[in-house]
Amino acid sequence: MTSNANSRSCLAVVLAAGEGSRMKSDIPKVMHQVAGRTLLGHALAAVRQAGADSVAVVVGPDREDVAKEARAALPNAEIYTQRERLGTGHAVLTARDALARRPSDVIVAYADTPLVTAETFVKLRAPLAEGAAVVALGFQAKDPTGYGRFLMSGDELLDIREHRDATEEERKITLCNAGLMAIRGDIALTLLEKLDNKNSQGEYYLTDVVAVARSLGERAVVAVVGEDEVHGVNDRAQLAIAEAMMQKRLRHAAMASGVTLVAPETVFFSFDTKLGRDVIVEPNVVFGRGVVVEDRAVIHSFSHLEGATIGKDAGVGPFARLRPGASLGPKAKVGNFVEIKNAELGQGAKVGHLTYLGDATIGADVNVGAGTITCNYDGFGKYRTVVGEGAFIGSNSSLVAPVTIGKGAYVGSGSVITQDVPADALALGRGRQAVKEGWAQAFRAKSLAMKRK
Ligand code: UD1
Ligand code: MG
Repeated sequence: MTSNANSRSCLAVVLAAGEGSRMKSDIPKVMHQVAGRTLLGHALAAVRQAGADSVAVVVGPDREDVAKEARAALPNAEIYTQRERLGTGHAVLTARDALARRPSDVIVAYADTPLVTAETFVKLRAPLAEGAAVVALGFQAKDPTGYGRFLMSGDELLDIREHRDATEEERKITLCNAGLMAIRGDIALTLLEKLDNKNSQGEYYLTDVVAVARSLGERAVVAVVGEDEVHGVNDRAQLAIAEAMMQKRLRHAAMASGVTLVAPETVFFSFDTKLGRDVIVEPNVVFGRGVVVEDRAVIHSFSHLEGATIGKDAGVGPFARLRPGASLGPKAKVGNFVEIKNAELGQGAKVGHLTYLGDATIGADVNVGAGTITCNYDGFGKYRTVVGEGAFIGSNSSLVAPVTIGKGAYVGSGSVITQDVPADALALGRGRQAVKEGWAQAFRAKSLAMKRK
């Protein structure tokens, strides 16, 4: 898509100054997450993908946290602070220095509408290349109350009328302003500087650039999208709706790319989940950020994965938890009630049941018995456990790190292993079994005699 966005330079101005009081939150609205990424992060990703080669983020006063998030997503994002909330037009004009560089295209995005796709921004930019001065994004509103209305004449946009400033007649219009806009860069600053605040709210309305452009003999047009896509987040209920819509999109994308989701509505993805061909995901699986699943792997029910890489033909779960740094080689198997953190499993390694592997390197074809625990933490530091290829760890063993089990070695069940085990050795770290013949019989006889007294 980026290549398709032709040779025109493009500045995106992302408005992230929303105060978000209806979120009832200690963190700014645009820092809340949908599918594992902040609302701001979604907006920045969409404009970048739509070909924006520079991005200006407009933040509210003292919002170093938002600025930091913007820079984390896009290191060369320019941050502008809107000190006073004087309206959407004023907010865009805050990025004056960036606008003054006269990019070919300017696109205005809101940081609280995370579902707007890159394709939509591309559609919004397109008429600028054909000479339009302004392109406004519209949608058919089920309930237009509160939105700006598009006053059209054929394909031409004559004006955008804010709900409060509209006549009864104008309020009947259902083609509404989503707020997002594209403005030709050679004229953007001129248009924005001509805005006034003579309206019912005493604000500098971005929407007035349409009328200003027309007064200069320029053309304004619209691009139309479905209402769902421009869903804005102002409270937690709207956040949940955005999450649901994003999940639906991610599930469809997964299935379209050749993944079987047995019960799609029960599987939750992150924005960056990567699934190979013929991967099968059973019901009730959650993918946190940074998961890569290679071809034909199966993720069984009730598993939770985050920051994990799953090799080809591997199996995970049911009821497995893979934490950041878990890496499963091809054909590796991780079964029920197993937690893996920062540990690599070689090809064909098996960790079937009730196990914790943290900070470990497990070789190919190792069998880790039920109930094995790597004791990786002493309250201060984390230590590594290394298990060589083909080793066999008997059930209910504790591997006290740092410790190395050599290739092909055996660890007897129930061992506490505190010293390295050489290749092909047997290590036993448990009390030796004592057998007292006839003891139970004698014990019962004695106990019964006592009871009868
Ligand atoms: C705006 C549009 C309206 C459209 C609606 C869609 C204007 C004048 N009106 O109205 O036509 O139907 O969005 O949701 O543009 N912002 C700032 N600084 C400001 C004011 C706003 O950064 O001084 C940001 C807000 O944080 C928000 C966005 O701009 O992200 C829109 O502002 P908001 O006050 O919600 O505008 P609406 O009245 O909803
Ligand atoms: Mg609004």
